[in-house]
Amino acid sequence: MRIDILTLFPDMFTGVFGNSILKRAVDKQLLELHTHDIRSYTTDKHHKADDYPFGGGAGMVMMIEPIAKCIEQLKSERDYDAIYLMAPDGVTFNQHKANEMSMLNNIILLCGHYKGVDERVRELYITEDISIGDYVLSGGELAAMVITDALARIIPGVIGDSTSALSDSFQDGLLSAPVYTRPADFRGHRVPDVLLSGNDKMISEWKLEQQLLRTKLRRPDLLNEQ
Ligand code: ADE
Repeated sequence: MRIDILTLFPDMFTGVFGNSILKRAVDKQLLELHTHDIRSYTTDKHHKADDYPFGGGAGMVMMIEPIAKCIEQLKSERDYDAIYLMAPDGVTFNQHKANEMSMLNNIILLCGHYKGVDERVRELYITEDISIGDYVLSGGELAAMVITDALARIIPGVIGDSTSALSDSFQDGLLSAPVYTRPADFRGHRVPDVLLSGNDKMISEWKLEQQLLRTKLRRPDLLNEQ
C-alpha cells in the first residue's frame, strides 16, 4: 500500500513515521509513505497557501491552486483509489473504516488547516472527508498519522504475530481481554489462575468472557451494533 500525505507541516510526520510499527512496515516494503509540502506547489514568492475567505468571516482558507497542482502531479504518476480530506466534519474513522481503507493500493490523505480548505477542492478531488473524532484539532496532520498507523498495523505481514492485529479491540466488534505478563505475582496481585493453567480451551473461554464483560461495562453501544 502507498499513502501520500499532503500537508503544510511535513516535519510533523518524521518522528511518527520513523519509529515502531510504521517504520517496520516501511522497512519491510509493505507500506510506502510519502509526505508532500503543499507550500512547495505555490508559485508566488511568499509561498502563500492560504487566503482570506470570500464573504468575510474568521480565519484563513487553504487555497485550491497549490493543492490542485500537487494532487494532479501525483495523479499523473499513478492511479489513486481514493483521496481523503482530514476534516472534523467528515465521517468518523473507526476499525471498520480502517479495514476497508487497508484494502486499497494507493491513497492520498489531505491535511486541512486553518478554517478549512476551499470547497472546490472537495468538489473536484475528494472521495470522502474523514474525522478522527468529535473534537477540533489544529490541523489534519494528527488525524493523518492516526489513520496511517491504524492502516499499517492491519496490512498482512506488518505485525510479526499474524494473529495479533486480528485480536485488537474492535476487530471482532468487542474490546480486548486484559493481558498480563511476568511476574505472576506482583506484591500479592496475582495473574488470574486460568492464564497459568495451560488449558487452551479454558483460556479462550475466559478471554471471550472478559471481552464481553469489558465491552458491556465500557462500550455497551458496540454490543447494540451487532
Ligand atoms: N482536522 C481538525 N479536526 C479534525 C478531526 N477531528 N479529524 C480529522 N481532521 C481534523
